[in-house]
Amino acid sequence: MKTQVAIIGAGPSGLMLNRYLALHGIESIVIEDRSREYVESRIRAGLLEAQTVSLLDEIGVGERLHREGLEHEGIYLQIPGERKNINFKELIGYSVWVYGQTEVQKDLDRACDAAGQKIFYEAKDVQLHDLESESPAVTFTDSEGNPQRIDAAVIAGCDGFWGPSRKAIPDVEVGSFERVYPFAWLGVMADVEPSTDELIYAWHPDGFAMHSMRSNSVSRFYLQVDPNDDIKNWSDERIWDALSTRMAVEGWTLKRGPITEKSILAMRSFVAGKLQHGRLFLVGDAGHIVPPTGAKGLNAAANDVRFLGEALVSFFKDGDESGLAGYSDRAKETIWRVTHFSWWMTTMLHTSGNEFDNQLQLSQLKHLFKNQALQTNLAQNYVGIR
Ligand code: FAD
Ligand code: PHB
Repeated sequence: MKTQVAIIGAGPSGLMLNRYLALHGIESIVIEDRSREYVESRIRAGLLEAQTVSLLDEIGVGERLHREGLEHEGIYLQIPGERKNINFKELIGYSVWVYGQTEVQKDLDRACDAAGQKIFYEAKDVQLHDLESESPAVTFTDSEGNPQRIDAAVIAGCDGFWGPSRKAIPDVEVGSFERVYPFAWLGVMADVEPSTDELIYAWHPDGFAMHSMRSNSVSRFYLQVDPNDDIKNWSDERIWDALSTRMAVEGWTLKRGPITEKSILAMRSFVAGKLQHGRLFLVGDAGHIVPPTGAKGLNAAANDVRFLGEALVSFFKDGDESGLAGYSDRAKETIWRVTHFSWWMTTMLHTSGNEFDNQLQLSQLKHLFKNQALQTNLAQNYVGIR
């Protein structure tokens, strides 16, 4: 097969890029190693920046989001005994949207169906070739066991942190940075009405706790746990008790309901040394990941899609290669801002067990609660004004 852009990975990055290119009359083929059902049901992000919502609107997949998503004007930050609302709309005039990644994925899949887009699901042994030439290629075995080859002008590596694209870049570890955090998140989905109107990020001596949501009847929670902890140690009752304790404030009760999913997630920051090698470009988690505390991963991926999409349009429409040549540096500027913000939120809110660290964190949070300049800084980073 021949196409203009071969896209590896049918997660949010791959399909947002596919839809952006289609909008501009550029052809692409998508190759994904999992099944469509698996990709659609992977529970992950829940919060979208205004700019991500604009991109989804632009590529024609924002309709259900506006109907079913929840627009939030801010968040709550909490220390024991005090829950402080930070109102982004009042501080800087922007809001964010609560809409699950599973729903974004379904909307993208349906838009691809409607356009008759070819996506190879359950592709095995995906390999990248001739990246330094003007006609790189991807080979794989399709779901029926047939060998396939796609010749393209450009390959977009949208295959997440564990995919083959980044590994195909020689010396990619040069200039790459990684931090693995000494704690993890226990993520919980529950069929219960949220006990809050906006997300709660709570510091507590027992560890961080968070209350998010997916809709008016589904709540999402996170608890800081040890990365070596086992989900078997966390009965539903222990989870509800820990959430109630860590998020307690006077006059507030946490509504409990059936837990439908629970799992432990490792936390790391990673930025690849370069996002380009010849005609291969890395997009989203393939090039960088952040701990989820600042809700930035999916939004940073959308930012890459916008930058690479613009560069590819100039390349294919006007033969202008300057956008592609500048992609890595342009994208990395945002990626480092997002990396800093996610690290800052993470280190401010997760406990280390050390009393000196606790006092520093509490002082920092109390200062933030009183200081509008600091709140404005948080708001700008959280809503993604860069
Ligand atoms: P992925 O979603 O990882 O997609 C990559 C795709 O490539 C996958 O479908 C994968 O199967 C496929 N693939 C892998 N290997 C191959 C191969 N060999 N061949 C072909 N295909 C391959 N972000 C936010 O913005 N807000 C949040 O609130 C938020 N919360 C999160 C909560 C949790 C618990 C987690 C885990 C993440 C969260 N994130 C959040 C991060 C966000 O989910 C990711 O940043 C986002 O999924 C990145 O999209 P992606 O398409 O780049 O990568
Ligand atoms: C989520 O709803 O999954 C979520 C929201 C905000 C975060 C992290 C995760 O910071």
